[in-house]
Amino acid sequence: MHLQSPSRVVLLAILSLASIAVADDATKTTISSTPAITPCVATSTNGAFFDLRPDAAVVVQKDEKPPKGVPTEDYVAKGWDYGSNFTLNICNPVVKRVDDVVGVDKALWKNISAYYETKGKVHSLGLQSGTLVPRGRKLVLQYTGGSPCGASDKSRDKRAGVHEGARYKYNDFDDDGEDEGDYYAPRRTSKDDEDDKGGKKDKDRQKDEPVRRKSATISFLCDHDPDTPTAFSFVGTDPDECAYFFEVRSQHACAGAEPHKPGSVGPGSVFAIIFFITVLVYVVGGVFYQRTVAHARGWRQLPNYSLWSGIWSFVKDLFVILTSSCARIIPRRRGYHTLSGSPNGRRESRDDENRLIDQLDEEWDD
Ligand SMILES: *[C@@H]1O[C@H](CO)[C@@H](O)[C@H](O)[C@H]1NC(C)=O
Ligand SMILES: *[C@@H]1O[C@H](CO)[C@@H](O)[C@H](O)[C@H]1NC(C)=O
Repeated sequence: MHLQSPSRVVLLAILSLASIAVADDATKTTISSTPAITPCVATSTNGAFFDLRPDAAVVVQKDEKPPKGVPTEDYVAKGWDYGSNFTLNICNPVVKRVDDVVGVDKALWKNISAYYETKGKVHSLGLQSGTLVPRGRKLVLQYTGGSPCGASDKSRDKRAGVHEGARYKYNDFDDDGEDEGDYYAPRRTSKDDEDDKGGKKDKDRQKDEPVRRKSATISFLCDHDPDTPTAFSFVGTDPDECAYFFEVRSQHACAGAEPHKPGSVGPGSVFAIIFFITVLVYVVGGVFYQRTVAHARGWRQLPNYSLWSGIWSFVKDLFVILTSSCARIIPRRRGYHTLSGSPNGRRESRDDENRLIDQLDEEWDD
């Protein structure tokens, strides 16, 4: 009987090792066959991992408590000489509701991720996107599909309206496939501005020709200082006011280590496997040595049997000592305490008795 026990242990060890390996393989294959794309997360070709999700401002309902450490307000980039400030969010749509956006379908207003306001009108710089693109040490995020291009204010202005409604009208006149860029600006007249609100024409136009729309390109820079808040700066726009460029400094734009994906073998399981194999080799090798060289039998075949049994009895003793001392400390067990004759309580009352007797003795003496 005793002879078999160690080998049974070894067998069990091998079996469980095998099952761990099989389980690992199973999860790995299922995960890798369906790679999940997480928005706002990117892995560059050199293995650097970026996760900007902590920088994305989230909408908090009125009665909800804002989550800790998560931004709940949009980012503002000062426009400086541009004349308007920009409101943006990272990966998510802007938290602040926007209404009456120039040239954008009402259904998409809730998807706008960047905009600026001028003369009370909101110009979108693009719709929400979570596609982070790592380019070398830079991380780039782009929002596209904003308001139609064209300067929006003052003097350059008359183009301002180069708003599709108007363009569509011209197309009716000379529909000869001329390059649109050539003609729309000069022929624009101020009375056309009235057409800007023509939603119906907008719709007609959308069927007709592709419209150039504003976009925002955001470049993220790593800032290791955790005390610096994530901040946007406006870099510039092209003369058509079509493409807008921003720079963001954030600690989350620093390359980090990719978190352990479920299913792959992480450092913890690698350690566990190595540990397991080491133990296995130790046990198998030890048994082999004890049997063949030392001719041991029974439990004594286990390597360092006396050492391990010593440790085991030590642990057992320790356990007994700890439990008994715990039993003494824990007040809940007062029942036992008094039963077993609490040394403390008894001694105190005995001290009192002694003091009384002493007092009495003194009084007698007087
Ligand atoms: C932009 O924001 C600054 C403060 O950050 C403010 O002083 C300025 O008036 C704003 N400009 C516009 C056009 O709203
Ligand atoms: C707009 O946002 C909604 C979710 O809020 C999403 O389901 C939809 O696909 C978005 N549309 C576009 C064009 O991004």
